[in-house]
Amino acid sequence: MRFTLYFLSFVSLLLIVGLSQSCERDAYIEGRALYNEYCANCHQEDGSGLAALYPPLTKSTFVDGDLTGLACMIKNGRQGQSTIDGIRYTQQMPPIEKLTPIAITNIANYISKEWGSEHYTTLQSVRDELDGCPNQ
Ligand code: HEC
Repeated sequence: MRFTLYFLSFVSLLLIVGLSQSCERDAYIEGRALYNEYCANCHQEDGSGLAALYPPLTKSTFVDGDLTGLACMIKNGRQGQSTIDGIRYTQQMPPIEKLTPIAITNIANYISKEWGSEHYTTLQSVRDELDGCPNQ
């Protein structure tokens, strides 16, 4: 009886760990799909950017850090503010307004895992940031 109890709690522990890991994996897969759909045509699937047109995300301080500013950048777009490795980028990154906070969170965490310091953000902090974006 005691053994059965131990065994059952062990199995449920495994289940819980398994479930939470599969959640993380889903968020990663979702982030990758969204990145490839909304960002990769400019920044490329491997994040390397495109010549002097689109900056490499592999060298971006927005990606390699705590991701502050990324959500507003995605929502509002950005132009003429990026200089990486001596190259000043003058093209416009257009605002991508239709991405939801959860979509932005998954994209941010995907690029942080791929090319950043894996300093993940949360849906709550993305929501907070979006509430306070400078008006454009
Ligand atoms: C139409 C092309 C285009 C698309 C689509 C695009 N970007 Fe950009 N992105 C740019 C350009 C151009 C810049 C440089 C803007 C500037 O100089 O201010 C930039 C800048 C950035 C930067 C800042 C780089 C730095 O360190 O200065 C990040 C991070 C970024 N983009 C992430 C994304 C993500 C994530 C997506 C998808 C949700 C995305 N971009 C979609 C063109 C694009």
